[in-house]
Parts: sequence; structure tokens; C-alpha cells
Amino acid sequence: QEAHAAEMERTFIAIKPDGVQRGLISEIVSRFERKGYKLVAIKLIVPSKEFAQKHYHDLKERPFFDGLCDFLSSGPVLAMVWEGEGVIKYGRKLIGATDPQKSEPGTIRGDLAVVVGRNIIHGSDGPETAEDEIALWFEPKELVSYTNNAEKWIY
Ligand code: PPS
Repeated sequence: QEAHAAEMERTFIAIKPDGVQRGLISEIVSRFERKGYKLVAIKLIVPSKEFAQKHYHDLKERPFFDGLCDFLSSGPVLAMVWEGEGVIKYGRKLIGATDPQKSEPGTIRGDLAVVVGRNIIHGSDGPETAEDEIALWFEPKELVSYTNNAEKWIY
């Protein structure tokens, strides 16, 4: 189990300015925590527009790119790294479909958001993006490795 813990997958999750302003931090963090995932980094920051453009660089040809970058940089964002088996894919499942009108009840967006432009949370969509986004938002020393005593009851 020790070796197992060393190769655990990590994903980047951010609560966007709408989620922070609406007081949804604890609600969202608790869903990842209760599932059994481990928080390894967390900070509250107001990203610059340039930083938002880097984060969303894959979308620069999309019509909503500029508005999306303005939105992400419009206030505090809670940036996090979560760790655990299958956390990249399952984290997206907890989050729900991009468009809250299509996300299932029980998901974060399904329960807490109404429109795509205010969908309260971002999660990496695959292993490569997870790695890139963690490196963009955090310095290696901000990622905390520790043993959570509940782990042996989860794995
Ligand atoms: S796509 O079309 O598959 O590339 O889009 P998707 O991967 O679902 O979404 C990429 C991010 O763009 C956001 N998005 C939008 N923002 C504003 N308006 C519209 N119409 C829109 N469509 C998609 C979407 O929320 C994704 O951002 P994150 O932060 O990852 O949720």
C-alpha cells in the first residue's frame, strides 16, 4: 500500500470566481474530501488575464475564449490539487457535464449551477492537461506529500 500511494494520480481542480463569491467553497471541497480523495495543494488567487489565457490556451480559437478569460480573472479562484485513484476521470464525474443544463443532479454543476458561462468549477480533462495545469498553477514545493490515516480504509 505504501508503494501504491507513491504512484497516485493527481488532478488540478479550481473553483472559479462565481463559486467562490457564492460561498460554495466548503460544499465543493467536501464532495472531493468525502469521496476519499486527498487534498495535496490549495491556494486562493486572483489570476491575471494573461494567466487565464495561459490556462485556457487550448481554447484560443473559440468564440467564448476572451469572455472566459475575463471571467476567470474577475476575482478570487480557489486552486487545488487532489490526489487518488482515478481522480482525473472521476473528478470530472463529480463535476458533471460542462453545460449545467446537461449535468446530472447529484453532480456539482447539476446541483449548483445553471449556465455554462457560470459553471463554478474547472477540472483537468486528462493526464497531460492535469500535469500541465498543476505545473502552471503550483510550484513543486507547494504540493504536500503526506500519509492520510484514513487511506488504509479507502484503499
Ligand atoms: S469544448 O467545446 O469541448 O472545447 O468545450 P469544453 O471542453 O466542454 O469546455 C472548455 C472550457 O470552455 C468553457 N466553455 C464556455 N465558456 C463560456 N461560454 C461557453 N459557451 C462555453 N463553452 C465552453 C467550459 O466551461 C470549459 O471551461 P472549464 O473551466 O474547463 O469548465
